[in-house]
Amino acid sequence: MDYFLTEEQTALRDLVRKIADEKVRPLAAKLDREGIFSWDLVKIFAESGLYGVVVPEAYGGTGQGVLELAIVSEELAKACAGVTLAVAASALGMFPIIISGNEEQKNRYLPELAEGKHLAAFCLTEPEAGSDAGSLRTRAKRDGDHYILNGTKVFITNGGVAHIYTVIALTDPEKGTRGASAFIVQDDYPGFKLGKEEDKMGIRASATREIIFDDCRVPVENRIGREGEGFKVAMKTLDKSRPGVASQALGIAQGALDLAVDYARTRVQFGQPIASLQGIQFMLADMATQIEAARALVYAAARMIDSDARNIGQVSAMCKLMASDVAMKVTTDAVQIFGGYGYMRDYPIEKFMRDAKITQIYEGTNQIQRMVIARSLIRDAASKK
Ligand code: CAA
Repeated sequence: MDYFLTEEQTALRDLVRKIADEKVRPLAAKLDREGIFSWDLVKIFAESGLYGVVVPEAYGGTGQGVLELAIVSEELAKACAGVTLAVAASALGMFPIIISGNEEQKNRYLPELAEGKHLAAFCLTEPEAGSDAGSLRTRAKRDGDHYILNGTKVFITNGGVAHIYTVIALTDPEKGTRGASAFIVQDDYPGFKLGKEEDKMGIRASATREIIFDDCRVPVENRIGREGEGFKVAMKTLDKSRPGVASQALGIAQGALDLAVDYARTRVQFGQPIASLQGIQFMLADMATQIEAARALVYAAARMIDSDARNIGQVSAMCKLMASDVAMKVTTDAVQIFGGYGYMRDYPIEKFMRDAKITQIYEGTNQIQRMVIARSLIRDAASKK
């Protein structure tokens, strides 16, 4: 289908597709098996300008947007969803600064992040604050011209490989979500510690780690926005970043379908390629149709977000929900088409199924996405009365 990409967007897609084919795919199985985060690939992504797509030109980026980030994520995820996160999770970590940072913070941090000289990460989730992000306990206590942060963040993508962390912590615990504030924390600040490294089912080429703040001293000028605005900064960030997960899911689904079509054309059973069996054809047709429907929604949502439309939370949640459910379904069917071979690690397809699962979970489980969508519908209906 034609999504009427501009010349610039088509060139970006072709560039990332080439990088994915030539540099990422040959490494994907090894990185997955050994759980390696590849700095060599980060260097290639940085040299190709991929870290700057969401950063305004004034701060060293290319001033593109969520659609371009979606294009990058989709193309990389066709080859390896784990590797995709080296770019996408850095964008997630940058969004709080881009959305709510002041001029000084943007000038100080964005140029090097846009260059890919450093990576960023986003720290919201805690052991007791997953879906219920408002239950966070990490504390930020003012001490003169610093805040002292104490607490533990878990499942942090790019944890341990990022230099810049955008962190949500409570400045006024009595006030709940209205008592949270957002901070920019460097990994070289005193009291910043790395915790447990996670051993994951999928996206094993990405780094996921606990981040511990142990009397971590953060300068007051690193607070993003006013005290008490942190939860809103986090929610606005997720509104912008969820299409990134959706497009990662889309890439996983497309990558799995491409492998399934190739396999079906060459695998002979009952004296013919299984692609000539109607049962397989119907599966492939459904997979392709579901992917195209998800792609249409992801691109539409990304375009809406880039045009500064109102109520982007609803479409952002919708595209993440749909694309990740499609990825799970398509990758499960792709393994089915490979049959017994699909279950074996000798073949590349089982990785796609393992990688797909996380897209239904992170940046808000799909149950949370449904909550966000339903609340927005109900709020809209109430406002019309
Ligand atoms: N934009 C701006 N403000 C928003 C907002 C949005 N999209 N959504 C909520 N808010 C505001 C509300 O207006 C409200 O403000 P007031 O106090 O002024 O009225 C405040 O935030 C609290 O909102 P709610 O009452 O709706 O909050 P809640 O406690 O019911 O939670 C939730 C809402 C949507 C369930 C939220 O907790 C949520 O998104 N949970 C999922 C968390 C999540 O996605 N985590 C992913 C972490 S990142 C990650 O996974 C990446 C990685 O590295 C692995």
